[in-house]
Amino acid sequence: MPVGCATRQCDTGPFFTTLDGLSWTSHDLSTHAPVVIWYSPEAAEWVRGHRGMAEEESDIPSPPVPDGAMLVKEMYPAPAVRCAGNDPLHLMPLGGSALMVRDNSAVQDGWYWGWFGWDGWSPDYPADQATNPPQNMGFGPYCLNCHASARDNMTFAARRNMQGEKGRLQSYLIQYVEASQQQVPDVRHALPALPKERE
Ligand code: HEC
Repeated sequence: MPVGCATRQCDTGPFFTTLDGLSWTSHDLSTHAPVVIWYSPEAAEWVRGHRGMAEEESDIPSPPVPDGAMLVKEMYPAPAVRCAGNDPLHLMPLGGSALMVRDNSAVQDGWYWGWFGWDGWSPDYPADQATNPPQNMGFGPYCLNCHASARDNMTFAARRNMQGEKGRLQSYLIQYVEASQQQVPDVRHALPALPKERE
């Protein structure tokens, strides 16, 4: 079931731009890359039933996600507004895709975790001897460093982030001036904004 983040990407934190001399510098302070989340029918039903505002405001844990439910997180370069207005079906997630597949009896946290990217491929095992990276697919990987802090079920999924659902999408301060970064800013505009010693 193609359920994206309100038909657009979600930022996962603030993004702002500063003017240093006559050049712009952008700072991405998000938890991680902007995302589009896709939900399988079982996952979508569980999120609708157990991750509404009432649940967000209560401390009562939601029941386990049902077996077979799948969540996929596509990741894009910040800020999300770069792709505003585009159909998520036609976007290429340059940061790769992370997936969660539910099997309650397979492992303590109930999830199989994975990540795959777009540039080449290398096997998880045996690991590259030189860099010895963490594995990208399997049970209990590095994903849990963040996901273990979710309120329950190891997922941050929220009904208000789903396309067509009520409630406000989580949003952050975003200053997007990439168009200005392509060219030297107009000095008539830049100078009044600069400290006196730089004039
Ligand atoms: C740096 C912290 C961090 C790491 C590491 C991380 N995630 Fe996430 N993940 C998040 C956050 C935060 C969200 C919620 C994003 C949002 O909707 O704003 C999320 C969302 C997701 C979602 C959508 C469902 C949900 O819980 O909101 C999936 C699927 C997902 N991540 C899979 C993975 C997988 C698989 C890995 C490891 C390969 C991983 N993540 C590693 C922080 C992390």
